[in-house]
Amino acid sequence: MWGLASYNLSMSSTLLHNHLLPWPADWTAVFNREAPLLIEIGFGGGHFLVDLAQKRPSANALGVEISLPALDKAQRKVQTAGLSNVRVLQSDARYLLQVLCAPESIAEITINFPDPWPKARQLHRRLIDVEFLHLLATRLKPGGLLDIATDHADYALAITEALETTPFFDSRLATTFVTEDTERLRTKYEQIGLDEGRTCHYYKWVRNNTAAPNDFPIPKEFPMPHVVLHTPMDLDAIQARYGRRRTSDQARHISFMELFRAHEGEALFVETYIKEEPVSQRLGLVIRQREPGNYVISLHELGFPRATAGVQLAIAALARWLLSLDEAAHILHHNLPGEMLEVDVTHAA
Ligand SMILES: C[S@@+](CC[C@H](N)C(=O)[O-])C[C@H]1O[C@@H](n2cnc3c(N)ncnc32)[C@H](O)[C@@H]1O
Repeated sequence: MWGLASYNLSMSSTLLHNHLLPWPADWTAVFNREAPLLIEIGFGGGHFLVDLAQKRPSANALGVEISLPALDKAQRKVQTAGLSNVRVLQSDARYLLQVLCAPESIAEITINFPDPWPKARQLHRRLIDVEFLHLLATRLKPGGLLDIATDHADYALAITEALETTPFFDSRLATTFVTEDTERLRTKYEQIGLDEGRTCHYYKWVRNNTAAPNDFPIPKEFPMPHVVLHTPMDLDAIQARYGRRRTSDQARHISFMELFRAHEGEALFVETYIKEEPVSQRLGLVIRQREPGNYVISLHELGFPRATAGVQLAIAALARWLLSLDEAAHILHHNLPGEMLEVDVTHAA
């Protein structure tokens, strides 16, 4: 009931709650209507997003930002303007696109003045490259629009090269970009760039008919994973043997961090970090003693974790570690893919 009530709350508010959105999100339910989905990535002050929603009342406008203060400001601007066709979400753009957006679901994407990360050691942080364009190509509808603007000369060179390299987009202009666009609302960073004498580059591209293989699947969620096992060890003994551990497979990296004892003493809580692009989760796994010698390892619900394959792997790794501590230990039952429990894959961090 709590989950349902929270979900309805998120439906009616401008600010979306990431943890309440299914994978992929149902944008028709989020906006309470079916309409073309326009996305602005990194909306900063939010003026452009509000203007977009005002100019296009028959579209659904979604803004994504990583900055919480930006989200707060934009949310207030949307409410002051009385707009019902805008939603804002705190998320990394890659996560939004790959996890929350189904293939061929977006009508238009705008990226205004993405962070240029000018230093050589920061270049890998830039959002736009050939791989990101491939991701965009899988999520845009055929004929979907992609508009990008930057005032950073070096980033402009990289964006030009990426757009000219990708097979999935064509320019809507006669050229790769233009350096003037008087029709659009100026953004804060555009104005700063112009005031400081920089040239802005405006790219207006369109998704073409070249098929884009979906190399960016939406991560799967599984039923709440658990392992039930027997070990003669008591919780004190398990706690005493615990040390930080790590494990990984080709797609996932798992770090078991701090171990905490429940106040009433019948459970251990293992702080766990799971990185499985594009999803990263810091969550708690629980080793709970049901009766002496009988333990359940499961996912704690604190923080609304998602039961991904990485979580399954983490629970399997914790179970294998427990089994390795005592020869008499054995699994009673579990709901994990069997092969995950076959090899001990953890090692001390
Ligand atoms: C240079 S500012 C531009 C802001 C605004 N678009 C403008 O033109 O004034 C870049 C914005 O992108 C946001 N941003 C950076 N990386 C992001 C990502 N991976 N996903 C979503 N937003 C991001 C930053 O928080 C910042 O607000």
